[in-house]
Amino acid sequence: MAFISLEGIDGAGKTTHLEWLADYLRARGVVATVTREPGGTELGEALRALLLNRSMQVDTEALLMFAARSEHIAQVIRPALERGEWVISDRYSDASFAYQCGGRGIAEARVQTLETWVQQGLQPDLTLLFDVEVPVAQQRVRNHVSLDRFEQEQADFFERVRTMYLRRAQQFPQRFRVVRTDRSLTAIREEIAGFVERLLIST
Ligand code: TYD
Repeated sequence: MAFISLEGIDGAGKTTHLEWLADYLRARGVVATVTREPGGTELGEALRALLLNRSMQVDTEALLMFAARSEHIAQVIRPALERGEWVISDRYSDASFAYQCGGRGIAEARVQTLETWVQQGLQPDLTLLFDVEVPVAQQRVRNHVSLDRFEQEQADFFERVRTMYLRRAQQFPQRFRVVRTDRSLTAIREEIAGFVERLLIST
């Protein structure tokens, strides 16, 4: 088993590659649970609806993200890993550092405390960070029918989110791999396949 998280600013193209990655792994005989944050459980999806649509204090936002994550870990992630399955999560706690600390300005020490409390050391084996310049991502997001509370943020917010993601990739080079998405689909897929190969060999 292995735990993979996918990260990136809104419009970086992460979701497009998630389904492809799941199909690729299943074709290799892997049993994979595909899930997302915030969400992934009934309560988590209810919290997601609040988080994406209702205005709230930044601390409330951070706490609800981790409340949803707590349910997600207990009900979905740990049980799947214990069954020997792979878990592919569309976002995990790096998103809290990037969005709540980088974007909203919450002190990293606070989110660190929540992470230690809620995750008890559970980190992905591999984090794919889909990276692209903010104006390119914003152009992609503008094609969406309606924009959620995060997608409505301005360019400077996403610059801070992106900077924090890239900083974390530098800080945790063992599990992070940065995938530039301003390239052909074939080139991106080849790169992702190369990154998961290491996990396929070791499991
Ligand atoms: P996203 O994953 O982009 O879903 P979709 O592709 O369906 O829009 O939406 C989730 C939003 O939640 C995204 O804007 C980032 C935000 N988010 C945080 O701010 N903190 C977190 O810890 C997580 C998991 C997500």
